[in-house]
Amino acid sequence: MENIFNKFLHGADYNPEQWLDYPDIFEKDIELMKKAHCNVMSIGIFSWAALEPEEGVFNFEWLDKVINTLYENGINTILATPSGARPAWLSKKYPEVLRVAENRVRNLHGFRHNHCYTSPIYREKTAILNGKLAERYANNPAVIMWHISNEYGGECHCELCQEEFRKWLKEKYKTLDSLNKKWWTTFWSHTFTSWDQIESPSPIGENQVHALNLDWKRFVTDRTIDFMRHEIDTVKKYNSSIPATTNFMYYYEGLNYFKFKDYVDVVSYDSYPEWHSESNIESAYKVAAYFDIMRSIKGKPFMLMESTPSMTNWQRVSKLKKPGMHKLASIQAVAHGSNTVQYFQWRKSRGSSEKLHGAVVDHYGKEDTRVFNDVVEVGITLEKINDVIDSKLESKVAIVFDWENMWALKDSQGPRNIGLNYIDIITEYYKVFWELGINVDFVDMEGDIDKYDLVIAPILYMTRSEYQDKIRAFVEKGGNFVMTYWSSIVNDVDLCYLGGFPGKLMDVFGLRSEEVDALYDYEVNEIRVKKDNKIYKCTHICDLIHASEAEVLAEYNSDFYKGMPALTKNSYGNGNAYYIASRMDGEFNKDFLSKLISDIGIKRNLGVELPFGVTITKREDDLNEYLFIQNYSDEKREINLEEYCLKDIINNNKISNKILLNPYDVVICEKEK
Ligand code: GLA
Ligand code: ZN
Repeated sequence: MENIFNKFLHGADYNPEQWLDYPDIFEKDIELMKKAHCNVMSIGIFSWAALEPEEGVFNFEWLDKVINTLYENGINTILATPSGARPAWLSKKYPEVLRVAENRVRNLHGFRHNHCYTSPIYREKTAILNGKLAERYANNPAVIMWHISNEYGGECHCELCQEEFRKWLKEKYKTLDSLNKKWWTTFWSHTFTSWDQIESPSPIGENQVHALNLDWKRFVTDRTIDFMRHEIDTVKKYNSSIPATTNFMYYYEGLNYFKFKDYVDVVSYDSYPEWHSESNIESAYKVAAYFDIMRSIKGKPFMLMESTPSMTNWQRVSKLKKPGMHKLASIQAVAHGSNTVQYFQWRKSRGSSEKLHGAVVDHYGKEDTRVFNDVVEVGITLEKINDVIDSKLESKVAIVFDWENMWALKDSQGPRNIGLNYIDIITEYYKVFWELGINVDFVDMEGDIDKYDLVIAPILYMTRSEYQDKIRAFVEKGGNFVMTYWSSIVNDVDLCYLGGFPGKLMDVFGLRSEEVDALYDYEVNEIRVKKDNKIYKCTHICDLIHASEAEVLAEYNSDFYKGMPALTKNSYGNGNAYYIASRMDGEFNKDFLSKLISDIGIKRNLGVELPFGVTITKREDDLNEYLFIQNYSDEKREINLEEYCLKDIINNNKISNKILLNPYDVVICEKEK
């Protein structure tokens, strides 16, 4: 399973079942796919009704023709299991497949992605169809991958799911007594005396027991994975060598995607940034961070399963991509470890809710469009950079991003209920590395941190006991760990640490946090760095800490805690533990981290200064480094190469002296190791 990709994949979601009454369209599609340099299509994602129009009546002829004809024309198939949307006959006959909302009201049929992951009938019906698909196509050389369902998400609160939740809790806590203690249910007399009193969180019932809320979210992830595994097991029975993926969503908070890592062969991802809204540069590093999360989940190349070739039809404003942006945004995914560029969708639907969503082929139906030409250019580019396919991204820096921490933090009812902005803070730190052109991995609390020289953990509110040990061991061995305010407050069941914050890490950081002051959005405090008296702004939270062993590097500059530590460094074992006590401004992050990086000896991907809006990502194999030099600003940029001489692998020429970048330009260079 190591070698999933032997070339870059370029393709789209293809929904030919919408066009079965238009025979000319299929022929035209094949012609256009070849012209667009596409080599793969994802098929069957929403085809259940076309494949099983009535219960037990199957129709695969149209799919046979599609898969085989594409293959004859050099296009492989990523075959979907169609569980993301079910036919009306199924909901009508078996209402238990319909999802029940938090308020305990069962949905009517309609929409998509709203089935119960527990329902035995839904599982049986998906297994029958998935089994038939696998029996028919899993050994067809055209089919190179399974696209399992589509964008799993949401939760079901039906009785079947409640029962499963209770089972899950019993397995975890063994006794009610233990659950009651861990959930601190004596508060408000919420003690449970029988398992069947426990219900999933609801706005019309219980939602104030934080540990219950957290366990429910964990359960939802586990339930979804269980359903996905049920699908994967069914199709793999027929040919276990076909890899399986499922597509994750853009900044989706509802599922802990790290937990999927052992069950999918490759991570795939649907990316829909809002280009040309406020700042492309800001969008660029936020997207980049999420690409890095996707790559980090398995520590392997991922797939850009969906992106729009032009605009979406569901964002606040459906902006077109300006010239250059399509190629830049597509190659950005590759720069961060994707081995595919795929679109939603190949051909614009004629009716229904996505008829105006961007697609490779417009209602116009021909290739002489700006969007089609942009897609061709990406296809050609991917063919030209095929040497990059076996390369990997290496990183010496990791940022801790943990879904469970995000859930607990949001639910915490603490210092700033108007928002602690976890993801924003994560990306604020990430931005510094993006601007310097340094690769970053993301790890959750279960991830290995030993291979990194620098680990940054922003607002790690929930810190499992074992994770505290991990941090201690990492620093002891010589690692550099940066943690911020509002960290290590609660344990894995959301119980506050007793004896002082940050819990068991007080000695590692050489300090104790006594109180936190929360700031309104309009409030600003300042910190003063002792060494050079430089002043920076800080907002949101001011952690009032007492340094015991830690060296105080900066102090607050106003309010009643003026003079108290705002930034500390503690040498512990062979390493250093840094504590940032407030949400510092961008300038501080840049100054502080740049200095730290250079002290530690972490190198930039290319040792040159980068102009504003330009970043460089590096992939490498045994022989070469591949540098992806990207300009997100809407102005021309220039990079002085100093002593470097690079080979531009798109244009096949040598670059020395200077790299010139047009607005939204991307240059891909090879550099011998
Ligand atoms: C999601 C879905 C697609 C389509 C696109 C539209 O990613 O998976 O089916 O609806 O959004 O942007
Ligand atoms: Zn259910």
